[in-house]
Amino acid sequence: MKKIIILSAFICIQIFVIAQTKSIVGAGKEIDPYHYSIVKSQTFNKASVACANPIASNIGAAIMKQGGNAFDAAIAVNFALAVVHPSAGNIGGGGFLVARKADGKPIALDYRETAPGKASRDMYLDKNGNAQLMLSQYGHQASGVPGTVAGLFAMHQYAKLPIKILIQPAIDLAENGFVISDREASSLNAVRESFIKNSTASSAFVKETKWKGGDTLIQKDLAETLKRIRDNGQKGFYEGKTAELIVDEMQKGFGIISLSDLKNYKVKERTALEFNYKGYSIIGMPPSSSGGIIVCQLMKMMENRTLDGFQTAKTTQLMIEAERRAFADRAEYMGDPDFWKVPIKTLTSDVYLKQRMMDYDSTKATPSKDVKAGVIKESEETTHMSIIDEYGNMVSITTTLNNSYGSRTVVAGAGFIMNDEMDDFSVKPGVANMYGALGGEANAIQPGKRMLSAMSPTIVLDKNNKPFIITGTPGGTTIPTSVFQTLINIIEFNMNATDAVNKPKFHHQWFPDEVAVERSFSPDTKKQLEAMGYKIVERGSIGRTEVIKILADGKRETAADKRGDDSVAGY
Ligand code: DON
Repeated sequence: MKKIIILSAFICIQIFVIAQTKSIVGAGKEIDPYHYSIVKSQTFNKASVACANPIASNIGAAIMKQGGNAFDAAIAVNFALAVVHPSAGNIGGGGFLVARKADGKPIALDYRETAPGKASRDMYLDKNGNAQLMLSQYGHQASGVPGTVAGLFAMHQYAKLPIKILIQPAIDLAENGFVISDREASSLNAVRESFIKNSTASSAFVKETKWKGGDTLIQKDLAETLKRIRDNGQKGFYEGKTAELIVDEMQKGFGIISLSDLKNYKVKERTALEFNYKGYSIIGMPPSSSGGIIVCQLMKMMENRTLDGFQTAKTTQLMIEAERRAFADRAEYMGDPDFWKVPIKTLTSDVYLKQRMMDYDSTKATPSKDVKAGVIKESEETTHMSIIDEYGNMVSITTTLNNSYGSRTVVAGAGFIMNDEMDDFSVKPGVANMYGALGGEANAIQPGKRMLSAMSPTIVLDKNNKPFIITGTPGGTTIPTSVFQTLINIIEFNMNATDAVNKPKFHHQWFPDEVAVERSFSPDTKKQLEAMGYKIVERGSIGRTEVIKILADGKRETAADKRGDDSVAGY
């Protein structure tokens, strides 16, 4: 048996290399999906990619070497991640792109999932009004209408190469397979039962015996779906056979996504959220993500205060208190701007943010129950990629299925995993979602509405308006706080990209009224914070942040988070 697997893997290598030399000129060994290594950080002269998987990073770099720009690379990396990083890379989910074109134009694309037409406000409440979070988090009813494929086609207007070239590496990877890492093997094993429970047919992700690092994962049905997208464009997903397979799957498990929901899915081009921090221009994602507003609030609440050193008790306490206030605002004011008026201007204004910190006490914790949203009179698994090309186009994308491997429902015959993004809505006021986030009316379920996100793809320009930082991360509600810390690490503490990514992180989100810290967080700072009244809880990793820091000489210092299989590539 073992021999057959090895032999078939060998045949696949041959097929793959032949196919690759056809589609990616000169990429050669760089994207051999059977022998690859993880590169955590490297400084490149011209172009670079940092993302969750080394095969996908290499594909992005190869596409740019072949004449594509950062948008071409982003499309190819996204399709590749949908194959090689199935826990979060996706075509069954959604995401956000923040970019800055080489000519200076900022871009923000919102391809977040939407609530299906048959969704309703109380759809996850039982007859006694109790929230049924199993339904919003797992299985057919948990899915919003996927936005990723439409998003990738929307960003193609800025790219140079045809989609058929950009999607081909993903098709080859799905068809011929790739070797999985130990980490991927153990995470597939961890969700085996959940896949079986929530899918109606067998899928490539479940096999008789346990997965091991070094096994080959082949996804034939997914390859066929990707081919339909290659041959029919966006309609290859939102109409025709793929759409029918999605709806058939939904109907098998009381899911409510319809053919017309799919056909009518629209990407929204938003106005990027831009703000200034001490002369640096920061570009973030506006709603339907809360990410850009929160990062802006957090940075602005730091701006006129002294940060006396990296993760000292004083600095950390100030940052925690800012986080508490920003998350209280999120719960009250933020939702899909097409359904709810989000007071962005006020929430990000200097006057408001100054007021917001008026009750801040530098000697003790402010209990979260005493912190409400500001008064305004004006009416864990996701994945991030940072990319820059030789022309100076900067692309920052965060995309997700929400939970790791989404709803665990694989569309039978189509081979991809659906999202469980409906859980990002406020299912019931006062009931926390899987990240502990609270919400209310602003983020209540309505047909066609986008559920509030925390994803924070971010770009920074230096004081001369030149490219400086591209960053973002997965991590649910820890996303904006991780991005915030990464920016502070670089801008205030002058860290290189690797340190900015890998130093311990902490997180606070108003409720629960506690501060989560990674195990490597300074015990001394922890002790001092506890003395000030903070409840500190240790947790596993926070985020998987990817950073490209553009140095004064134009070189691209590129770092992938040590917390995963994340890897960089470039030239
Ligand atoms: O959009 C959001 O905020 C969440 N669905 C993101 C989920 C996530 O980052 C999970 N990753 N660890």
